[in-house]
Amino acid sequence: MKKLTLVLSVMLTTFALQAAARSIDIIPKPQSIKERDGIYGISEKTTIGFEKGLEGYAGYLADIIFASTGLDLDTVPFRKADIKLSFDRTLPEEGYMLDVCSKGISVAGADMAGVLYGIQSLLQLFPVDIYSGPPRRNVEWNVPCVSISDFPERPWRGMMLDVARYFYDVDFVKKYVDMMAMYKMNKLQLHLIDDSGWRVEIRKYPELTSVGAWAGAQTDRLGGYYTQDEIRELVEYAAFRNVEIVPELEFPAHILSAVVAYPWLCCTGEQHSLPEQHFISRDLICAGKESSYEFLENVLDELVGLFPSEYVNIGGDEAVYDRWNECPHCQALMRREGIEDASRLQGYMVDRVTDMLKERGRKAVGWEEIIMRGELKNRVTALVWHDVADSLKVARAGHKAILTPASHTYFDFPESNTPGEVKAAVWMPPISVRKCYDMPVNDYSDESTVLGVQGCFWTDQFIHGTMLQEIGLIDENRSERYAEYLTFPRLLALSEIGWISNAERDYDDFTVRLGTHYGRLEKLDCGFRVPEPRVTSLETMDDGSVSIAVEPSVVGSVIRYTTDGSYPTVHSAVYEGPVTVAVRDDFKAITVLPSGKYSLPVYFEPDYSSYKEYGTFVAKWSPETMLRCGNIWKTECSGRFRGNGIYEITLVWTGGDGDVEFSGVDLLKKDLKVAGDVGMCRIGKDNRICKFEVTLNGYEAGTPFFLSFGISDKTEPYTEGLVFIRSK
Ligand code: ACM
Ligand code: ZN
Repeated sequence: MKKLTLVLSVMLTTFALQAAARSIDIIPKPQSIKERDGIYGISEKTTIGFEKGLEGYAGYLADIIFASTGLDLDTVPFRKADIKLSFDRTLPEEGYMLDVCSKGISVAGADMAGVLYGIQSLLQLFPVDIYSGPPRRNVEWNVPCVSISDFPERPWRGMMLDVARYFYDVDFVKKYVDMMAMYKMNKLQLHLIDDSGWRVEIRKYPELTSVGAWAGAQTDRLGGYYTQDEIRELVEYAAFRNVEIVPELEFPAHILSAVVAYPWLCCTGEQHSLPEQHFISRDLICAGKESSYEFLENVLDELVGLFPSEYVNIGGDEAVYDRWNECPHCQALMRREGIEDASRLQGYMVDRVTDMLKERGRKAVGWEEIIMRGELKNRVTALVWHDVADSLKVARAGHKAILTPASHTYFDFPESNTPGEVKAAVWMPPISVRKCYDMPVNDYSDESTVLGVQGCFWTDQFIHGTMLQEIGLIDENRSERYAEYLTFPRLLALSEIGWISNAERDYDDFTVRLGTHYGRLEKLDCGFRVPEPRVTSLETMDDGSVSIAVEPSVVGSVIRYTTDGSYPTVHSAVYEGPVTVAVRDDFKAITVLPSGKYSLPVYFEPDYSSYKEYGTFVAKWSPETMLRCGNIWKTECSGRFRGNGIYEITLVWTGGDGDVEFSGVDLLKKDLKVAGDVGMCRIGKDNRICKFEVTLNGYEAGTPFFLSFGISDKTEPYTEGLVFIRSK
């Protein structure tokens, strides 16, 4: 644990004091808590005892306590100990009972995981300083008396970390594992392979890493990989924390790194190079050549030797099948097997690789496409990432599902639309903590077919540490910091919905508990996103002015604000009560933590409901955003598409006496034109609407889209308006 020096603030607000007085704020919420009177305080006399097999966890707890308190707890026989760690095999899997009374503490787990989780809950009962070193002497290390009985509703509470597009080193992955374990999450899918990098040493194919792990010129090449020794170390570290590392062997797409190293793997045998920016290759591993299956089997042999996980992830997402359609080997296989559609070759491959896994005593999990490309003979588990309702399709086909919908659990999307927000991917709308917490789970299928939930942290939008779109709040351009900013606190919401039943969810209660966790995250040097203050009331007065009240979202924080529309700083006025402003957007308020870290301001999203008929808001045009930009106005419109089809683009005039003549629009996928409309339209107060239509083919999730309008004429003095888009 890293050291952090905190300047203690004396300015706790009423809310903060109330929240601080709450003694139990465990996340994820335990199934049952019985609070009792009294406390147990640890001192130099406190002892630890444990049942056979639990020495490791006794040491783990003692080390954390020693690091933060300086108290070196003695180990004594179980019967005589003050803190007892034991097993209670009658409890549900991963479950535990935690009893604290004035005489001592008992943690009883169903299994190793249960004992670990009892310890995690116990740590969350201590003052937040328990998470930090160096030893602090002025803290009373008291725990409230309580009886907690707890177990998870769902066996799969996962995260996916994309180490292929951006290579996170072992130390960072260990830190990620620590944070997951603190919140009782138990599966880490390592996305080890993608077009832009191969990240695991495979002894039989050394060029996968000597060639496939590195992009760019040799002198300043970028990338990296885990040696087999490092993988073993990581797997052991994670297993101790009840995090099973699930390796991902991605195929048939997203595997250009292997094709670059061994060109015979693709249909054409062509030599490619590793991309340095976001890119989805069309060069699939060839389904028709037997050498592809030998390769996959040899790689699997080494992977199962390294990763003892019950599951191996076999990838499967986002393949396009042009190459297989053109390949004589793939075509011959289709004829032999009576397969009529090239996409069905993927189902054939999935069955063959699932057979290989079965022979090695492992189960296959993969992106949802693995069950959607032809009927499978084998049963698999699908990561449903487009639409949770598809878990029904998965269940009907006899498979199991894990819900990881991009719309709720892809943490590379920003948390908000606030100007200045940190953004990686933008092809979907923002995912707030609330949106993640409200994700539907099990609403569409049988309880037993949905194993649980998983978050995904993709790094394709910031390969090799490229700057993200907004960096105002983070002055370090390290992708590690961005990963923490984008993952936390949303991971806490995900951990809770994975742990408890839908009926037990209570967002307001979660929010109050969450308010005390930022202090813990800060002690752990986790670069989380600081939340804005919460708006508690917004009232329009008789004279049209607006009265706004806010409250802190973080215990111990101070709110600072401005009333002239400018972004507040740590020196702005301290908020003490409701503020009245002429217009809503004049009020801006930020959360300032005791450490001086601060949030983005409270931001009121404009209300476009009166333009509903035109679809989703895309952008605002005004002299500032458009008229000074010459003959082309380009604006991002990622996230407004859900697939191929016809889209109507509407421009609406909203003010000003001038007018603008638009000479058509191009739809760009990154820099590439994929659709367009050459129509001309002049817009101003005499003609308030312009419409264009584009037909999108080649939709690709993950790729940014832009609208590029031609401007053939514009007249002074001034005009402004809005752009909307809707699917027809
Ligand atoms: C994915 O987002 N391509 C699984
Ligand atoms: Zn082929």
